[in-house]
Amino acid sequence: MTSLLDRPASPRSADLTLRRGATRVLLDNWAGTSTVPSRTLYPHQWSWDSAFIAIGLRHLSARRAQRELESLFAAQWGDGRVPHIVFNSSVRNDAYFPSPDFWRSSTAGAAAGAPTMCETSGIVQPPVHALAAWLTHEADTEESRRRAFLPRLYPRLVAWHDYLLNSRDLGGGGLAAIVHPWEPGMDNSPCWDGPLARVDPAAPDTFRRADLDHGHPADRPTDLDYGRYVQLAVAYRDAGYDDRTARPAFALEDPCVNALLIASELALAEIATQAGEDAAVHTQRAARLTDALVNRLWDDEAGTFLARDLTSDTLVRERSVAGLVPLLAPGLPAELVDRLVATLDGPHFRADSCDLVPSYDLTGPVFDPTRYWRGPAWFNTAWLVERGLRTHGRHAHADRIRSSVLNTAGDTQFAEYVDPTTGEGRGARAFSWTAALTLDLLTTQETCR
Ligand code: SER
Repeated sequence: MTSLLDRPASPRSADLTLRRGATRVLLDNWAGTSTVPSRTLYPHQWSWDSAFIAIGLRHLSARRAQRELESLFAAQWGDGRVPHIVFNSSVRNDAYFPSPDFWRSSTAGAAAGAPTMCETSGIVQPPVHALAAWLTHEADTEESRRRAFLPRLYPRLVAWHDYLLNSRDLGGGGLAAIVHPWEPGMDNSPCWDGPLARVDPAAPDTFRRADLDHGHPADRPTDLDYGRYVQLAVAYRDAGYDDRTARPAFALEDPCVNALLIASELALAEIATQAGEDAAVHTQRAARLTDALVNRLWDDEAGTFLARDLTSDTLVRERSVAGLVPLLAPGLPAELVDRLVATLDGPHFRADSCDLVPSYDLTGPVFDPTRYWRGPAWFNTAWLVERGLRTHGRHAHADRIRSSVLNTAGDTQFAEYVDPTTGEGRGARAFSWTAALTLDLLTTQETCR
């Protein structure tokens, strides 16, 4: 695979070193048909990871980026859901928890159309996929057309979005809901503390965490969090993963998930045009979602979007990076864009030592600079906010985040996340989406993204 390493790069030697390092991570983590997020902590295929990984891989091999997405969608369920994990059957069962025998997708999920040829989880992750598919197409349109990449993927992407917009509109207000803290991808965000407090945790002796074999306990969710994650997943599984009957104890509308759905509906409009399908349905959906997002999740006092807890039908009064991701929506009213940029630049999110955006309010009562989604800054959210700023022409701001990604990624050996108060790497190293999105920001000119 040295040919991928030798592709032309920016002449700056620091950029060349960074590019080679990022490429090496993606080559090392390629598992044959998809990329593991981390060789140690996450040894299977993850849904939103694969989308971010494709966005970087497209610069190395558009074909490989297409396969990354195709392999994920090969495990799509009959009801349209894209599972958050697709298990690799050649990986030891105890290498990751919860393992396939916990989720039991092919049996417990049979009525919902879970695949029989592979095992998956039964929950979902944020819908970055149509955006990733569109960017992958753009990277090599000839290869895309030759393989009929978009016409083949389009119906699957539509079914995925239909699932979110119909089966998951649990609040009835036109937004997709999450039913587990793993679904928004921000597992232990303080935004979930209140809703999760209502869930009786599973007994600690009923499961064994594999994450602590590789991750430092101070960087990971607590045992109490895990007990609740397990309890919620067991209840959903035992309801056959059926959204009509499941009655989840945890149900929220998350601004990041819904902002990604808007961006992906707009990407789907582009894809529809290429695939000879109707684009208008997608632009209309994006407009309706934007209205619903503003009406249901904007909080004027906080100056940001907040998650809505559907059990109490109230907004969760915690600021997190998820509330800034709606910058991705081009149809956001201009005054909200101004407010979001001010919030991004103010005391809640502007750290002294690093311009990556902290996952949680720096001034929040439970801010923790090292514990997973309770403060650390992540590269995928930095990429999303950077893209959102450019969507609204805020290039100077976007440049600052882009520089921070490029300066921090190599220094931390492509860390999973960083302590925003020091810029030090935390969590896993050689993390695939960190490498992929670094490669994307290195390769792509600001103005044509
Ligand atoms: N993020 C979860 C974990 O830490 C699963 O999606 O394992």
